[in-house]
Amino acid sequence: MKLWDKGFEPDEIVERFTVGRDRELDMELARYDVQGTMAHIRMLETIGLLTPSELAALLAALEEIASDIEAGRFEIEPGIEDVHSEVEKLLTERLGSVGKKVHAGRSRNDQVLVDLKLFYRQRLSDIEEAAVRVFDELQRLSQQHKDVLMPGYTHMQVAMPSSFGLWFGAYAETLADDLRIVRAARDIANQNPLGSAAGYGSSFPLDRQMTTDLLAFASPHYNVVAAQMGRGKTERAVAYALNAVSSTVARFCMDVCLFMSQNFAFVSLPDEFTTGSSIMPHKKNPDVFEVMRAKCNRLQSVVNEVSLLTSNLPLGYQRDLQLLKDITFPALNEMDDCLATLAFILPHLRVNTAILNDPRYDYLFTVEDVNRRVLRGEPFREAYRAVGMQVQRGEYRPQKEVHHTHMGSIGNLCNEEIKEKKNKITTKQ
Ligand code: ARG
Repeated sequence: MKLWDKGFEPDEIVERFTVGRDRELDMELARYDVQGTMAHIRMLETIGLLTPSELAALLAALEEIASDIEAGRFEIEPGIEDVHSEVEKLLTERLGSVGKKVHAGRSRNDQVLVDLKLFYRQRLSDIEEAAVRVFDELQRLSQQHKDVLMPGYTHMQVAMPSSFGLWFGAYAETLADDLRIVRAARDIANQNPLGSAAGYGSSFPLDRQMTTDLLAFASPHYNVVAAQMGRGKTERAVAYALNAVSSTVARFCMDVCLFMSQNFAFVSLPDEFTTGSSIMPHKKNPDVFEVMRAKCNRLQSVVNEVSLLTSNLPLGYQRDLQLLKDITFPALNEMDDCLATLAFILPHLRVNTAILNDPRYDYLFTVEDVNRRVLRGEPFREAYRAVGMQVQRGEYRPQKEVHHTHMGSIGNLCNEEIKEKKNKITTKQ
């Protein structure tokens, strides 16, 4: 039987089609559905819609459901539409008509929104934590290899001296910037939609500040229509956060794949982290970084999927919004998996400490020579031309010494400052 039963049975085909994967995906929301319901009924009691003893009975039953969820004993039964229906059904089975009182002043539209906001808030914090583990590892590698030089490229052509310290450190700082976007998405999720009901509020004097405080939201999402429009907007923000982090990870993976090629041989992995070929006996491939690159590239399409799904929707609840869960839930899992795998594998990445002995990298040092001449008083353009002519005539011989001292350069990585910056972003309330 449906929550909205009015004496007729829905068509089976329409029912299967509209419910889709909801029963499976809603399992992720179950604990938040119970939390949201607890906050809602505490509030209902203060405005006289439940007696203290009804509230106590409902809270005890919800506690039981919560422990069933944690213990893996909770399920959304066949024929029950979604998690919201299941929880209300359990309350009614256990407590009779008291269970039927919980939905006063609420709609599944704000109920699912509360669940999702609590879910996204948590999952974005998890992603932040996982990204910080990667950040820490990248910074540790940056410090460890701060004196190991590698070529820097522009246009894929040998350009200027870089270092492993600079390379690892660059990805750490970029991830820190991505964390600002993760934080922004979390801030958007951290607003309370409860009380917006079906999308236009309620004639009960709902205490929205009370449920905001009980659920530890930063503030109510005030305007009830804006709160409902938060479905879709929140997912878009989540998608931007995933886009930011995954684009950084994908790019790093691309670098590793390139640098593991024999033509570069800048980095390598122990055998057990590589995979072989079924025909070429010598192969040791960086599949783990390739699959991560693919997953992270695909994660960048979540923004497109969310925006296409929502872009022509009018205001108010539409069932289309249900399908957002199909997009964001697996994407969040994928992101977690990529970050955890990256944090795991990074310490095993070996760097080649003697790359620059190869004469193909000699021209990396031309700018150093120009600068040395400038320091002796030659105008830059003349010094540039003199070194350029040496190269042109095949007479250029490098002095392989570099003295970079300014902030953020190979000689002054500013890893401490970057860590400070990351801390400021992640400790903001
Ligand atoms: N499963 C639905 C969703 O995710 C729950 C809300 C249903 N509301 C409704 N008016 N049919 O959107």
